[in-house]
Amino acid sequence: MENPFSYTSIVEGDSFCNRQKEKDDLLSFIINSQNILLYSHRRYGKTSLIFEVFKKARRKRPKINTMHVDLYGTLSEKEFVAAILSSLSQIESKVERLVNLLKNTVRNIKLGWSIDPISGAPSGISVSFDSGYNEIMLDNIMGLLDRLSQKQKLVVAFDEFQEIANYGQRGFEKRLRKNIQLHQNICYIFCGSQRHILNDIFNNKNRAFYKLAAYYPINKIETGYYFSWAKKLFSKKNIEFEPEIIKDVIFRCENHPMYVQQFLYFLWNEPEISPETLNKIEHKILQRHYHEFLNLWESLTANQKKTLKLIVSTDGKEIFYANAIQSVDLKSGSQITRALEVLIKKDVVCKNKNYQIQDVMFKKWIQTLL
Ligand SMILES: Nc1ncnc2c1ncn2[C@@H]1O[C@H](COP(=O)(O)OP(=O)(O)OP(=O)(O)O)[C@@H](O)[C@H]1O
Ligand SMILES: [Mg+2]
Repeated sequence: MENPFSYTSIVEGDSFCNRQKEKDDLLSFIINSQNILLYSHRRYGKTSLIFEVFKKARRKRPKINTMHVDLYGTLSEKEFVAAILSSLSQIESKVERLVNLLKNTVRNIKLGWSIDPISGAPSGISVSFDSGYNEIMLDNIMGLLDRLSQKQKLVVAFDEFQEIANYGQRGFEKRLRKNIQLHQNICYIFCGSQRHILNDIFNNKNRAFYKLAAYYPINKIETGYYFSWAKKLFSKKNIEFEPEIIKDVIFRCENHPMYVQQFLYFLWNEPEISPETLNKIEHKILQRHYHEFLNLWESLTANQKKTLKLIVSTDGKEIFYANAIQSVDLKSGSQITRALEVLIKKDVVCKNKNYQIQDVMFKKWIQTLL
């Protein structure tokens, strides 16, 4: 039987665990055309959640149209517009209609597309601008979304929205806001994982997006949900093992969605399952992420590394105590404060009650250095 767990792509259907409340909340925001800022740390399941909610939205009567715009890697307003253009086939699957829509909307663009051999529908569009980019194109394409939403309510998710912070086009945010505010029948989901950038875009009074969307953070998934979900999936595989083992997996991954999936993926592939198997898998996961963690570690200054070691060895508690500071050869609390500022900005450390290393496996990796 095929392994039902996956940790490298978005998950759906049986591979998607719970998030019932989040799905209900988001659907209600969509129905009421409320804009949302969907935030979480990396790999918590934002994109998967959006796709699950989109399925529900499309099943609603009257139907709600959905469009997912992946902004990852876009560097300019022009690429932002191109990303929307190439996502339009998600709403309009008939090639001729799509061409007509675009002909009447944005001039001077060249379109190329691939066709799905089975359905005959365009599966992807590529866009190039004939004679350069003109700012009016942003208004045109946003106006087109508005027109499309007149017939049927629309939800547009801008995934990796923090990319817009690097565009550098003058007035881009203002012009985008002006459009978005006019769209009564569209729910915009702004999604991303870089907290300080998103925070600045949406909470800085001097920026156009100030309070434009309701903040909706998503957290880890609770143990009870993971447990019944994973137990059900494992019941399809004829293998005897103590169900408590699943709880141990969740505990070791501190409920982190991607790591739980990765762990369970490897567990599924084991011919026999015992507590010893878990140590072996944990070791394997650390090995798989070795280069990623090493690169991150090497990008840090000596004081930042010491601060991380301090957080690991003290569990993030009382890191400003004199003996704690001395234990990692730092000279003062202000060195820790400065290091923490950068580590928090880089989303390596987060502060809840105590300081914590955001990535549980990175924390375990640092433990091996102590
Ligand atoms: N509801 C879920 N149930 C089980 N596993 C999940 C769930 N959501 C996400 N995952 C796991 O987390 C991984 C990352 O999911 P996804 O790409 O949706 O997260 P993301 O928050 O969009 O990530 P990124 O920050 O990279 O954009 C998936 O491959 C899957 O292993
Ligand atoms: Mg994502």
